[in-house]
Amino acid sequence: PVVPPPSTPHGDMAEILPSLPLETRCPPFHLRLYNGFWQPEIVLVDIPDIHTAHLREDILLASFPKSGTTWLKALAFATANRAMYSPSDAQHPLRRRNPHDCVRFLEAGAADDADELHAPPVLLAATHLPYSMLPERITGEGSRSRIVYICRNPKDVLVSGWIFTRKAQEAGGEGKESSSYTLQEAFDLFCEGRCVNGPHWQHALEYWAESLERPGKVLFLRYEEMVREPASNLRKLAAFMGCAFSREEEDAGVVDAIVELCSLPKLKAMGVNRNGINYLSVKNELYFRKGVTGDWTNHLTPEMITRLDEIVDAALQGSGLDL
Ligand code: A3P
Repeated sequence: PVVPPPSTPHGDMAEILPSLPLETRCPPFHLRLYNGFWQPEIVLVDIPDIHTAHLREDILLASFPKSGTTWLKALAFATANRAMYSPSDAQHPLRRRNPHDCVRFLEAGAADDADELHAPPVLLAATHLPYSMLPERITGEGSRSRIVYICRNPKDVLVSGWIFTRKAQEAGGEGKESSSYTLQEAFDLFCEGRCVNGPHWQHALEYWAESLERPGKVLFLRYEEMVREPASNLRKLAAFMGCAFSREEEDAGVVDAIVELCSLPKLKAMGVNRNGINYLSVKNELYFRKGVTGDWTNHLTPEMITRLDEIVDAALQGSGLDL
């Protein structure tokens, strides 16, 4: 179907929507194929507003769902606000709020209680949108916004997403009924790119290409490297955000303190993340599971691994990106 290019105002989406290819097998959303990506209908209808909103985003945290978004939000928030909230502060917002309630998604509306957190020196926002669907005020030549992308191995993304979806379904259904969404179903849809913001590899590829073209504009981080070397990746993130750690901060152990505050065991153990629900109406505990690399080896069959690897390798050929 003929659709408007992503950088222009997106016309009347409600009118365009019914003409777009539909996918209903991917819980919990109905997806439509728009400009090469499968998007939830509820996001697509908001695209024109997202593009024309009078907002300022200094740093946009971008990711494919289940790639470490929550972690990146926590790290960027703690880093940007460290002058106001020391990572060891008992009243630190990350001890009281889920990271998603500290940094909101572009596509999930404005925060009702944004004033509760003082305006930080660096304004943060997040998105799962593909690069080609971002507003001009962020990607345009005159824009001062910068983008941090976190990329994760697609097999881990698939497994993490499947488990998250099942748990969310079970939590939504009075907590009693076990979900019938099978790994095979999730796998087949994922391989066809039929998942929120899929195909995964095209999503990563767009940000990758832009990070090569404009390295000062887009920082491309890898979940696996962050797990291996959190402190050095945090330093890279802070420098890119324009708030590098000083010698004094290094000597005082601020880097390690932020890494520790944002670590999976620490965040997972916090009361708010064990019992709370975030502004997306999702139970906070669902965002914290194993946080390791390679958990796919415990779930995927050799046939699944071969099939997905072949699809991804073919799609990335010649790009220099290795997933
Ligand atoms: P697993 O399901 O593989 O454990 P997202 O935040 O994009 O939804 O991604 C969720 C994934 O990030 C989950 O992966 C989750 O466990 C992991 N994660 C959440 N917080 C993390 C943290 N502080 N450090 C490392 N991984 C984290």
